[in-house]
Amino acid sequence: MRITRIDAIEVLDSRGNPTVEAVLQLEDGSEGRAITPSGASTGANEATELRDGDPHRYGGKGVQKAVGHVRGEIAAALVGKDAGEQRELDQRLRELDGTPNKSRLGANAILAVSIAYARAMAASRKLPLYRHLGGDEATVLPVPCLNVINGGRHADNTVDFQEFKIVPHHAASFAESIRMGEEVFHALKKLLHEQGLSTGVGDEGGFAPNLHSNEQAVELILKAIEAAGYKPGDDVALALDPAASEMWHHGRYRFFKSDQHECDSAAMTALWEDWLARYPVVLLEDPLAEYDWEGWSALTLRLGGRVELVGDDIFCTNPDLLRRGIREGVANSILLKPNQIGTVTETMDCAAEAKAAGYGCYVSHRSGETEDTFIADLVVALGCGHIKTGSGCRGERTAKFNRLLRIEHELGPRARFAGRGAFVR
Ligand code: PGA
Ligand code: ZN
Repeated sequence: MRITRIDAIEVLDSRGNPTVEAVLQLEDGSEGRAITPSGASTGANEATELRDGDPHRYGGKGVQKAVGHVRGEIAAALVGKDAGEQRELDQRLRELDGTPNKSRLGANAILAVSIAYARAMAASRKLPLYRHLGGDEATVLPVPCLNVINGGRHADNTVDFQEFKIVPHHAASFAESIRMGEEVFHALKKLLHEQGLSTGVGDEGGFAPNLHSNEQAVELILKAIEAAGYKPGDDVALALDPAASEMWHHGRYRFFKSDQHECDSAAMTALWEDWLARYPVVLLEDPLAEYDWEGWSALTLRLGGRVELVGDDIFCTNPDLLRRGIREGVANSILLKPNQIGTVTETMDCAAEAKAAGYGCYVSHRSGETEDTFIADLVVALGCGHIKTGSGCRGERTAKFNRLLRIEHELGPRARFAGRGAFVR
């Protein structure tokens, strides 16, 4: 199947920053379109998001160069050619770029083309995207982990840790799980309002009140779970992403938004051990910084049998870093963010390597998102059972939930909800 057209434009993400949208057509008229998301608390080893740096446009954040690369070099190399399987297309894109981190053409340009191709091929095969990527066995719907209180770099408040998530895992279906999540989300809003706390939301749609401690966020959420009629832990558990790389300060951890105190890696690990004893946490992401490999190994040894430990910044969806992690006993699960690595194939390869090593895979959005719902199809294609794609509100987040609701409906009796079993223990 030959590619007949590749085009791109600058569109907007949920923060109002520009990003790349690519569109790709095949000779049978099938079309695919995709938009690249953008992170804020990014890992140091992520593939490069190419920005123009022209202070006169979007404060330097324009992506006209990346868009130009899609329309120019990428289109010139691919239009008129039969691109073959997704793997071949992605390999061709990597070769064209020629750098290890996709810095020449930009991972934002490359990923948009990679996903657009997957969509066009799915359309050509008359298959839903999850089935095109995952085959007939792609029938598992994920547990949604809703980030209901935002802190860290995602909100202007006094909370150091970035994400406080609810995990409605005791449900019969994805639809039921989302309903439970939303009920807790609304109960939390009521609780915050009653206590005179702000109900404005942060980047990912979670509430972002000023609190007197990080623990207070957990306590409020536990109250909200009960107020919504659920049992904390049994019905709705907790997941956390403190995004500890953002706290890293000269080899220590600084509570940079509250009281500015610092502690070492061992003390941070002790803090998590204490929290795990007190709260029903089933997943802990980036409990330590991406620079703290030794600390991560020690933490994994101590806590890995009790909770899913997800490496985000430390792995950056990168197979090389994942392999090092497996060798050094770091984490027991990996966060999958397609734009950290830059192609569909590499994202899926990373998941396959993780699974082969007994690691979990946790599919994720970025804090700067769009209406693109690729990750909803991806999580079903991979069957990896859990996703984080924001809180209970904001269209760019609910777009993914809505896509998953449609997939569950479409699969009918074949759909299976991952439930509690989705988490590595
Ligand atoms: P980001 O945050 O998209 O801003 O990197 C998400 C995360 O840290 O998991
Ligand atoms: Zn993270």
